[in-house]
Amino acid sequence: MTDYTNDDNEARSLRAALADKLRDEGTVTDPDWHRIFTAVPRHPFVPRVFLPFPANDGRYHPLDGTRPENRTAWLRHVYQDDICITQLDGDDRAWETATREGEVKATEMTCTSSQPTLMATMLEELALSEGDRVLEVGTGTGYNAALICERVGANSVTSIDIDPVLVDQARAALGELGYAPTLAALDGALGLAETAPYTRVMATASFPVIPRAWIEQTSNGGLILANLTRPLGGGALARLTVRDGTAEGRFSARTAGFMPTRGKHAPAAQRLYQQITEEQENAATPEAVDVDLNTVLDTPDLRFFLALRSDVEELGVRYPDYPAERWLLASDGSWAFATSEGGCLTVQQGGDRRLFDEVLSLYREWVELGEPSRDSFGLTAAPDGDVIWHGSPTDGRRWPLL
Ligand SMILES: C[S@@+](CC[C@H](N)C(=O)[O-])C[C@H]1O[C@@H](n2cnc3c(N)ncnc32)[C@H](O)[C@@H]1O
Repeated sequence: MTDYTNDDNEARSLRAALADKLRDEGTVTDPDWHRIFTAVPRHPFVPRVFLPFPANDGRYHPLDGTRPENRTAWLRHVYQDDICITQLDGDDRAWETATREGEVKATEMTCTSSQPTLMATMLEELALSEGDRVLEVGTGTGYNAALICERVGANSVTSIDIDPVLVDQARAALGELGYAPTLAALDGALGLAETAPYTRVMATASFPVIPRAWIEQTSNGGLILANLTRPLGGGALARLTVRDGTAEGRFSARTAGFMPTRGKHAPAAQRLYQQITEEQENAATPEAVDVDLNTVLDTPDLRFFLALRSDVEELGVRYPDYPAERWLLASDGSWAFATSEGGCLTVQQGGDRRLFDEVLSLYREWVELGEPSRDSFGLTAAPDGDVIWHGSPTDGRRWPLL
């Protein structure tokens, strides 16, 4: 079925090594997915990539895979188990600057081909079989869509993205390999009614809630697999079964972080931080505390719980030769910051809310619940509101999704 355009031995053997790695590490357990990762080339979908500077300071080098002298370095990059960054700050200007000047500074990655391990995990979680009709939200480069086409046939695949340029590029790359799924440029929250109903919806951009349209466009018993955008991150991957207009299921044991949808839901922590003046900061009396905010925020299962239950954002601030500060921020301008200097933990809090106290109270709630792991929580997305629950949707504790 696949026409391996632009393929050669080097690409084939690097790709086989990646597929074997996914299998040997236990990410890919289904032989058909191993076959598909071995067969479907990634490189035609990512002809130009950005490489982040090692300092991770927002600067990137361009790597143009269409230039023969770059081919080996580029193929090696493409067949690592890593993201490939294909777009910065929403358009081609970053690429133009980077090729002209050798580097570019950018604020946001707006398109990446996701890490193969994450793609494989999600594809296995989707439990695809013949006859499935799939909606992918977040076409991006089109590589994931190609993998799905190879599995269920392109006639059963729809993929949508908010960026029309990306959709056109993906259509061309998919077409060269012989795949012609339905593609459309629109806000993914709308789904695509024309090719519904779907038995599987897979989102590769993260949304703050499960859009109603996805639930309405999924047939009874169908699955939705999506990462929820939460202010504290947490990588919440929900696997929900749709029944009678409600989508319900657990969060995956695995962390799955995707780029948030563009525009309105972009994290505001940096902006909020810039609004706090030195005067405000000095007005708040430092309090000695006996709980280290670093430990609280860096315990993965706890952070996941905080991410689900709180609207607080977090920012780490570093100055050379000075202890790291951790800031908690809320959209009403409330803030808290914690430092540990010479083993002494202090916190300052300002604004209408006491954010450190809020986080501490959630921390105690998590301990009282028995320090549960992420997969003991679940989500019910229903027409009358979304709730998260612990244990089971009917017997456990329940909270509205903020
Ligand atoms: C991580 S990339 C997707 C990777 C892709 N599946 C692939 O195989 O290359 C996320 C994509 O989500 C898209 N996106 C962001 N916000 C969106 C929205 N509201 N609706 C649809 N797509 C969106 C971005 O344009 C970007 O292409």
